[in-house]
Amino acid sequence: MHILGISCYFHDAAAALLRSGELVAAAEEERFTRRKHDFSFPQHAIEFCLQAGGIAGRDLDFVAFFEKPLLKFERLLLSSLQTFPRSYRTFREAMISWLGDKLWIKDRIQRHLGIDPSKILFSEHHLSHAASAFCCSPFEEAAILTIDGVGEWTTASLGIGRNNHVKLLGEIRFPHSLGLLYSAFTAFLGFEVNEGEYKVMGMAPFGRPRYVDKVYKLIQAWDDGSFELNMDYFSFHDSPESTYNRNFERLFGPSRDPKTPFFTPASGYPSYFGDRPANYDELGKRNQYYADVAASIQAVTEEVMLRMARHVHGETGVRKLCMAGGVALNSVANGRILREAPFEEIYIQPSAGDGGGALGAALYMYHTVLGQPRKFVMDHAYWGEEHPAEDTEKFLRAAGVSYERFDDDERLIDRVVDALQAGKVVGWTQGRFEWGPRALGNRSILADPRRADMKDVVNTKIKFREPYRPFAPSVLVEHAVDYFELPEPARHYPARFMLYVTDVKPQMREKIPAVTHVDGTARLQTVDPCLAPRYYRLIQRFGEATGIPVVLNTSFNLKGEPMVNTPREAFRTFSQSEMDLLVLGNCIVEKRR
Ligand SMILES: [Fe+2]
Repeated sequence: MHILGISCYFHDAAAALLRSGELVAAAEEERFTRRKHDFSFPQHAIEFCLQAGGIAGRDLDFVAFFEKPLLKFERLLLSSLQTFPRSYRTFREAMISWLGDKLWIKDRIQRHLGIDPSKILFSEHHLSHAASAFCCSPFEEAAILTIDGVGEWTTASLGIGRNNHVKLLGEIRFPHSLGLLYSAFTAFLGFEVNEGEYKVMGMAPFGRPRYVDKVYKLIQAWDDGSFELNMDYFSFHDSPESTYNRNFERLFGPSRDPKTPFFTPASGYPSYFGDRPANYDELGKRNQYYADVAASIQAVTEEVMLRMARHVHGETGVRKLCMAGGVALNSVANGRILREAPFEEIYIQPSAGDGGGALGAALYMYHTVLGQPRKFVMDHAYWGEEHPAEDTEKFLRAAGVSYERFDDDERLIDRVVDALQAGKVVGWTQGRFEWGPRALGNRSILADPRRADMKDVVNTKIKFREPYRPFAPSVLVEHAVDYFELPEPARHYPARFMLYVTDVKPQMREKIPAVTHVDGTARLQTVDPCLAPRYYRLIQRFGEATGIPVVLNTSFNLKGEPMVNTPREAFRTFSQSEMDLLVLGNCIVEKRR
């Protein structure tokens, strides 16, 4: 039985294909269209999934859409009407976009795949999130938490999964939303909503949570994890442009100008920002305020998530937890839940945001609706497209690029280890691209984590990221415990997917400065020899050569672009940046200078 899951028209569009309950392929649309967070109908991702499964659209038994468009439309209409005429423009824009395409998603799917409309089923947004985590977790029974901006009406839910059944037990409804609260601060701090949330999280350790009391003027939270936003401060419900209003600005002052570089006295002013501005000191002080605001919203988010986690534990009495929804990508909060909430183990799959809804809708359909038993555990993230070695060489030859092919893996790895040790920055692509927003060793840029200046080198040469955003370490799973405060690392699935931030052991911080954040933490990825053998061997060899089995791993893309998919895109990114070495499977291209 084949079930195709689809998510689109909101954040990240994606498709996922299940065959008899086992995942065959899953990918976000942005990897094919090169438009970051592309939310349009995922025709390319669908085509890829069908191709990977060797089937055509008409062979599908069911198609599962990740939410109920009519319910969502109802929410938009009702919340617009409540604040009419203030919401007139929101209302008008919603009507244009919904009457254009979104409401007719069933027709669109039917036309695109050529299947009978009776085979197209609609899940609910948070049920899709819940199933996306629980149904591919290793747990027979688990508590479930889903937290995001908003689905149809729900913004957070708690539930329980048992065998093949997922059930939601409670919910918080729009406009009360932890995700939208965090997004309001993302916008206030000068970042793009749905894109800059990681920047707020990275900025937080440069500040102190001095304004927690002020944040609690915006959100009233109770011990059972429930909360209400004070809507006097927000405008996401009645304005298409702004998430917060004048009252918010009266409380927190003017928002940060997105065009000014963000730095604090602690982050330093990197060379790639250009000359220091004349008002350097004043700007640094002002930015320190914004870092303190970031620390405050992060602290409140963690606090509310912890209460929710404790509450769902109390309600279910279960010792395992599954989490999903965009807020479950807050790896700092996840690390705290693991340490402080009464759960033995947590599972989060790598595409925890709306892209993962495609997977969740398909899993929900197969297990809970059709009653089929579970047998699939998502233990790695490599579900995207891969490109055969002969295609890679064909491309390189056609492009007139000189390259070296290594038929001996050890020689290839030695060559890369030498380059890393020499301070070079390496583009590393292998096999199928990753599912979800993190590069986990198949579309990665790698560097030596031992050099404190490597963060600036990678930023200056390629990423041009803000100086306060940390780079992540990939570590051999059996050595993770030597470097990071994460007992028994092998059993923590979220650590395989870079979804926990933990402390770096104090004595190890100066050994891996390029991947240790200002507060002594890191968002580690544990690497397993069975799941990513070549990447594992590379880090192992690097460890043999240097005594440190850790590499710096950041996603293979230029700033503002999605991660690369094809050899052509990898080569283009390599050429446009100052990366030194490019590995495409078993071929190496070196930059001549
Ligand atoms: Fe969502």
